[in-house]
Order: sequence, then C-alpha cells, then structure tokens
Amino acid sequence: MKAHIVLLPGDGIGPEIIAQARQVLEAIAAKHGHTFTMNELPMGGASIDAHGEPLTADTLDACRKADAVLMGAVGGPKWDTIDPAIRPERGLLALRKGMGVFANLRPCTIHPALAVACPLRPDILAKPIDILMVRELTGDIYFGAHDTAPDGQSASDLMIYTVPEIERVARVAFSLARGRGKRLCSVDKANVLAASRLWRETVTRLGAEYPDIELTHMYVDNAAMQLILRPAQFDVVVTGNLFGDILSDESAAIAGSLGMMPSASLGDGKAGLYEPIHGSAPDIAGRDLANPLGMILSAALLLRHSLGLEGEAAQIEAAVSGVLNSGYRTGDIFSDGCQKVGCGEMGRLVIQAL
Ligand code: IPM
Ligand code: MG
Repeated sequence: MKAHIVLLPGDGIGPEIIAQARQVLEAIAAKHGHTFTMNELPMGGASIDAHGEPLTADTLDACRKADAVLMGAVGGPKWDTIDPAIRPERGLLALRKGMGVFANLRPCTIHPALAVACPLRPDILAKPIDILMVRELTGDIYFGAHDTAPDGQSASDLMIYTVPEIERVARVAFSLARGRGKRLCSVDKANVLAASRLWRETVTRLGAEYPDIELTHMYVDNAAMQLILRPAQFDVVVTGNLFGDILSDESAAIAGSLGMMPSASLGDGKAGLYEPIHGSAPDIAGRDLANPLGMILSAALLLRHSLGLEGEAAQIEAAVSGVLNSGYRTGDIFSDGCQKVGCGEMGRLVIQAL
C-alpha cells in the first residue's frame, strides 16, 4: 500500500526517538512492499524558533491531509518563559483540535520482562493487567476559556463539555470494549462538577445501546486509588481530558516507565495522530539515552488504526517484546542483569528483530 505520513519530531528527545521510529517504519515497508512517503515538519519549540509560532497553518494543513501523523514530544525550558499563548504545548493542543482527534487511546499493559520495573507489590500483579484508557482529547478544561484577571489576583479555567462531545468519545470506548473484555468504566467527578454530571448522564443513556457491555462509573479520586490497589479490575476506562491526562501518567507508572507508553488519537476518519505519552525530557536530550520504545510502539498503533496494517503492527510489537526478552534496556527500564543500551542501539535491535 501507499501512505503519506507526516513526522513531527518536536523538541528535546523528540528528534532522536522519531528517527528510530522512522527507520522501523522504513524497515516494515521494505519487508512488506509498502511505500510510505514521510516528511518532517517543525512543531512546538522547534517551530517557535523557525516561524515564531508552535504550529503553523501550513504544518496543520499538511497534517490534515496526511494519512497519519507521528509526533515526538514538545516543550522544554527554553520556551518556559515565553507568552503562554504561543507555548510549545499550545501547538500540540491546536494540532489535536485542528485534526479533530477527540479520542485518545492509551493502553496500559505490563510487559512480563518489565514486571520488576513496576512499583506495585507482586501480589497486586498476580492478575493480568490490560487496561485501555480512552481519554477525551479536544474538550474539557483544556479548551474552555482561560482567564487571568487584569490585577493578576485571580485566574480561572472553564471546564465545559457538550453532549455531542461526550457521546462521540463514549461511542469509541463502548466499541473498543466490545472488541475486548466487554467492560467499560466511566470516570468523572459527578459528586461535585456539573460537567461531570452531564458526562455521567450521557454515558449512562448511551449504555442502553450497548447492552452487552457492563458499564460502571467511578469518581476520579477513587479511580486513582483503585488503579493502584486493584488495577486488574479495569478493562476499558473512558474519561475527560484532564482526568485522563492524570490517570494515564499513573497507569504508565504501573507499566514500569512512561518511556514505554504509546498513544493513538483518533477522530471520525481513519487519519490519526500518534505520539508517546511522555514529554520531551530535556534533561537527557541529545545524549542517546532516551527510550524510543513508546515512540516505536506508537508507530505500530499508526499502522494498525490509520493504515489497517494489523499484521505489520503486531510484528513491530513482537519485535519490541523480543528485544526486551533478550534483556536489552534503556536506562529508564534498566535492572540488574540486563544489558544497558542507548536510544539508537535500541532502535537498531528492534529493526534486527523485525
Ligand atoms: C499529554 C501531555 C500533554 C497534555 C501536554 C504536553 C500538553 O501531558 O499528552 O499527556 O496535557 O495533554
Ligand atoms: Mg500528560
């Protein structure tokens, strides 16, 4: 098949991890006779430096036209003090909104070889953990009005959800639950927030259309605790943008390292945005220390969800497992008795395993 993929390396470790994912995509294309055209565009801080804004209209346009977009990470201390309206993160939010990718899929499983990196007690890990977090991505307090009073003495951010916004992400979550364990837990704060009450009412009403799915609701504070105490109880979790941001970092800790975690952001069509859930890690950038596996696994999700190449996606995932089973580790997932490798070497090992 032919596909056009836009690569947005971004900042910090973004360029070095995306270089590995690009080589993995090239290797899988060569192996299966696909033609992937890929072009790299600046995004986040790199785009601020080049064009004065974190996401240019041309870049957004190219992303909208592509079959899929693969992004590294954005942000860094260099841009921490600039006008909040053009921070690197703003570019990422504008990209998500502009591409209309409202459903962010963040899977959490513990690779057996990495169980030692999981901070939970072994008895909690006795039951298999396989959680798919579905985070709403283009609404909520992230996109409500952000205001600071002229005197600088108060500030507010508006948490707002509409029924259609809740419905469309809930449908994605119900459908995904149907293809898995048939259980959906909706997480909100309906005991306090009006937006959460609307969320719960809407998800409950939709639930009637999915009688084969066991729907439960949980307050976000309890969900944060349950993820640690009894993570195996969860199958698919659906939640709003802010709660999903927080809970997905928590579930990444359970999986051993943020560096391992891929994500897929999907909208109405097949095109999607794929990014590891970690940040730009400026402290280790450019030193060949980053873990490229979350990025490489994001490329696998791209093949699966946007290009329909399930077999190729599974091969990349198997290659990553193979490399971990062989004992190779980047620093973030290193434990005694393993072989420590850098970012480039980890990428090369994955390609070799392919
Ligand atoms: C994430 C990140 C982003 C978010 C930041 C960089 C804006 O934390 O993808 O989880 O909050 O969505
Ligand atoms: Mg986050």
